[in-house]
Amino acid sequence: MSLLSIKNIDVHHGLLKAISDFSVEVDSGSMVAVIGANGAGKSTLMRAVAGVLPVTTGSIEIAGEDVTKLPAHARVHSGIALVPEGRRLFRSLSLEENLLTGAYRARPGPWNLDAVYDLFPWMPERRDQSSRLLSGGEQQAVAIGRALMSNPRVLLIDELSLGLAPIVVKQIYASLLEIVANGCAVLFVEQDVTQALAIADDALCLLEGRTVLAGTPAELNRHDVETAYFGTAAAAPGRQ
Ligand SMILES: Nc1ncnc2c1ncn2[C@@H]1O[C@H](COP(=O)(O)OP(=O)(O)OP(=O)(O)O)[C@@H](O)[C@H]1O
Ligand SMILES: [Mg+2]
Repeated sequence: MSLLSIKNIDVHHGLLKAISDFSVEVDSGSMVAVIGANGAGKSTLMRAVAGVLPVTTGSIEIAGEDVTKLPAHARVHSGIALVPEGRRLFRSLSLEENLLTGAYRARPGPWNLDAVYDLFPWMPERRDQSSRLLSGGEQQAVAIGRALMSNPRVLLIDELSLGLAPIVVKQIYASLLEIVANGCAVLFVEQDVTQALAIADDALCLLEGRTVLAGTPAELNRHDVETAYFGTAAAAPGRQ
């Protein structure tokens, strides 16, 4: 049984169907990348899985438990944590206070302040610093740490590396490998397709809310990915 099982969901914004008939299975210890152009529906998907947006049809299960009708706070207790697009730290709080907000309604498990500080060793000496003073990459690490504080079984990350320096991206990807080694299932949105395909066990591409391509990175060739990403091969950059 998959840890995260999404079957045939639709998600609407008013009359707009932003996600159509979406399904995916993510196993414990594996990472699935969601790619797609701006407006493809990636954040809508992540927010629906986290329970921030309702689905209009279909089901979402965690380890066989149907969470489709649960509100977001109850899904945290079921083991879903979201690192939202734009990180959304509490700017008036310190680094450590931001991490502690993730422990509210936490499940029992291996993650606590010490474990997060082991994962990101630069954090302890800056624990009292205002989150306003953190760089984009540092904020992303805090946002991931905050999500881990709830001891998730399923970690959702929207825009993993957007706006981060390559060295920080490398560090954050290394931390993700540790996180999945602990048995988490990770579903992540990544603008950088090359990065996504380098680390993910499976990848899927959304176009106008539909899955137009899915497979292991080895199965997906560059031309097919470009076609799926932009809708037409002709629209891809670098093509005539
Ligand atoms: N709160 C909202 N109300 C109405 N429409 C919305 C809302 N949020 C998103 N949409 C629309 O839903 C579609 C999918 O948007 P979404 O933000 O999920 O895309 P995305 O793939 O995350 O894009 P990006 O790469 O820019 O983050 C778009 O057409 C967008 O305009
Ligand atoms: Mg988005």
